[in-house]
Amino acid sequence: MGICGGNKINHKNRFTYDGGYDGTTMTTSIVLFGPPGAGKGTQASKISEMTGKPQISTGDMLRIAVSEASDLGAKAQSYMESGILVPDELIIELISNRLKQEDAINGVLFDGFPRTLNQAIALSSIVDISSVISIEVPDEEIIKRIVGRRMDPITKEIYHISFKPAPDEIQGRLIQRKDDNVETVMNRLKTYHQQTSPLSSWYDDQNLLIPIDGNKSIEEVATDISKFLSN
Ligand code: AP5
Repeated sequence: MGICGGNKINHKNRFTYDGGYDGTTMTTSIVLFGPPGAGKGTQASKISEMTGKPQISTGDMLRIAVSEASDLGAKAQSYMESGILVPDELIIELISNRLKQEDAINGVLFDGFPRTLNQAIALSSIVDISSVISIEVPDEEIIKRIVGRRMDPITKEIYHISFKPAPDEIQGRLIQRKDDNVETVMNRLKTYHQQTSPLSSWYDDQNLLIPIDGNKSIEEVATDISKFLSN
């Protein structure tokens, strides 16, 4: 079985890997799902704090790969800049390598993964998913959120020029992502509707989908998610 390269997967959720734990059961993981700019990254740190599960963001991992000019970064860059998905085999390898790390042993919080049916099927063969928190936001709101997004390169905190302004003293160092422009956002939304949003009914059929109205303030969305988690 499996996508884990050198790992031996004994059965779903139980695997051994090179040089690490041996046969330790991995508990359930959570998927944070939603369109680009829905607020997944914004909510992920709060969910990680509540659950103790580390955030695994494929977007962040790919941006690091691009900034380090690694082989993966070189392969992924043009897809990301055009707002289309990086090929499944690269993403599945990236995730399976990340899941070998010791902090993943008690389950993780996936942010921006899976995004295709192939990715979801691969994931279901190696971890148990307890819930898929789906942050739902209309397209017109997405465009405003993405175009106004800024990031602090030091703390990695995500800000917005109107909805979550950064403190004055760090304004000068904020950066804007290369793919956060109107043209690329339109492609990212198109890609989302064609390839990713069908996954919501796939997860709903498995009774895993938790729809959250993301068209509220950051604090209100966080409260709704924490109500679900504390249940
Ligand atoms: P990725 O980095 O995953 O981008 P994304 O899914 O497009 O998501 P974003 O990071 O844009 O948004 P978010 O939902 O985290 O929103 P945020 O919290 O920042 O992927 C980038 C690219 O990498 C992809 O296009 C693809 O090429 C590739 N890729 C990544 N994963 C892949 C995969 N699995 N397979 C294949 N390719 C992959 O919030 C956005 C803004 O809104 C912020 O400014 C924030 O302050 C503001 N905001 C948040 N919540 C609210 C709110 N409730 N009210 C008002 N403003 C809010």
